[in-house]
Amino acid sequence: MEFIDLKTQYQTYQEELEAAALRVLRSGRYILGPEVAELEGKLARFVKRKYALGVSSGTDGLLIILTALGIGPGDAVITTPFTFAATAEVIRRCGAQVVFADISEKTMTLTPMKVKEALQKAKREGLLPKAILAVGLFGLPAYLPELEELASSEGLFLIEDACQSLGAMAQGRPSGSFGIAAATSFFPAKPLGGYGDGGMIFTSNFELYERMKALRVHGQTERYQHRYIGFNARLDTFQAALLLVKFKYFPAEIEQRQIVAKRYRQGLKDLPLSFQEVPAGYLSTYAQFTVCVRERDALQAYLKKRGIPTAIYYPKPLHLQPAFEDLGYQKGDFPVAESLAQNVISLPMHPFLSAIKQDFIIKSIRKFYGD
Ligand SMILES: Cc1ncc(COP(=O)(O)O)c(C=O)c1O
Repeated sequence: MEFIDLKTQYQTYQEELEAAALRVLRSGRYILGPEVAELEGKLARFVKRKYALGVSSGTDGLLIILTALGIGPGDAVITTPFTFAATAEVIRRCGAQVVFADISEKTMTLTPMKVKEALQKAKREGLLPKAILAVGLFGLPAYLPELEELASSEGLFLIEDACQSLGAMAQGRPSGSFGIAAATSFFPAKPLGGYGDGGMIFTSNFELYERMKALRVHGQTERYQHRYIGFNARLDTFQAALLLVKFKYFPAEIEQRQIVAKRYRQGLKDLPLSFQEVPAGYLSTYAQFTVCVRERDALQAYLKKRGIPTAIYYPKPLHLQPAFEDLGYQKGDFPVAESLAQNVISLPMHPFLSAIKQDFIIKSIRKFYGD
């Protein structure tokens, strides 16, 4: 059994994917070919933004946004400690200070209240908060409408880390449409995954778009006119061509993920475990289906013996990682993030998970609990 079945997905779209790859090979246009612009146009419309920029990864997308906003030494950015390292890494990479805020136990994402507390603490410590970097975790956007309001009342930028949440909705608005800009990832295991690294940035601000577009190619505004110190961070034409094929099936895949999630929720609902709560008015893309259990390690070992792969996202919150040690955080600073790190387990989740296989997973978990 696969945790995320990319092989079946590939076989399902094989003919179209291979034809798209061959077209690129034969076109000779490997860098920023027409497929990149086509994908940018389609995804900008999908997330209801004016502009989209294909980039080399979600990480580079976030780094370009922060750089283009002029966030750097002396500034602080508030984010969650319960995320993939890249979220906080990019803040450090551009020289700014990371300020962590604890998260909701139910949604596992940042809440306006916790962000406000972190903001006040940061200000008391003499830091200059510039932005909130809100992560859509496991496919579920953070409380974005409220965070957008908070950011605007505090004079901060809201930036969406939508690396896991492309296709998701918050109160009728697509993930990727909130704040000044957002970045998503096409890492193969993501809901819209490519066949290698890739990502996309979204904004509706023309000036910011122009700056980010230049930063993507060595700060170049015209050929050999370098206005900024930039990056080499373009999305490959190959990836764009393959993603254009997969994007056609993306809405249907998101629906299929809802069906799989519903089956898990039904099949496991009376057991002593809790689900990541999807608030009313929200749609998760279920990049992961994550549950919280007290006997996490025992359950993982039990499922492994039965041939069921699981994963722990994330076993250690970022404030306790050596790379962020110098920020001076201690164990106990973010109790919710720390307790989730001990208790979360992600179950197989992908649009091709058959009802038979899923029944076996559900039955196995029930058996673990003595059912
Ligand atoms: C929340 C989050 N932020 C950032 C990233 C970085 O994306 P990428 O791997 O495309 O650089 C990822 C995924 O890997 C992620 O899950």
